[in-house]
Amino acid sequence: MKEKTLVLIKPDAFSMHYSGDIIKHYENEGLKIVAMKLMKMDERIASKHYAEHFGRPYYKDLMGFMTSGPIIAIVLEGENAIANVRRINGKTNPAMADEGTIRKLYATNGTRNAVHASDSPESAAREISIFFNASEILDEEYEVIMEEIL
Ligand code: CDP
Ligand code: MG
Repeated sequence: MKEKTLVLIKPDAFSMHYSGDIIKHYENEGLKIVAMKLMKMDERIASKHYAEHFGRPYYKDLMGFMTSGPIIAIVLEGENAIANVRRINGKTNPAMADEGTIRKLYATNGTRNAVHASDSPESAAREISIFFNASEILDEEYEVIMEEIL
């Protein structure tokens, strides 16, 4: 089934200039970029995005980290994109992540772990709407939209 999922390139990976390499991993696996923006998360957006983690021991550190510098928010589309992207990312803690996964290659530790990806269709829909308006996500009409802009 064709799905959309939200990826965040986190501040650690962005500041170490890994963004291009990370995006290449997704493109190599046939995932398509349908929306993308560079931004800095503020406390409001970060707490909305990580609402389910509120009160956990790592929450404060996570908030400080996620708002510490620029991130890239991306919507990827493809067959089984949600599970596929999480497989490409690897386990949350890079020490446990498989060889060749993004977190194994680029993460610093269990909090500063290079990337985020949605974990279900419900969280993908919720998370995408935090970062993007419907008009910022390109669909099959892609070409037509580009012509209108040019
Ligand atoms: O990102 P993922 O879905 O793999 O993991 P999560 O359990 O949903 O946790 C969200 C984020 O919180 C992780 O990616 C880490 O940045 C952070 N976290 C942490 O710092 N320490 C933990 N024990 C668990 C998560
Ligand atoms: Mg998660």
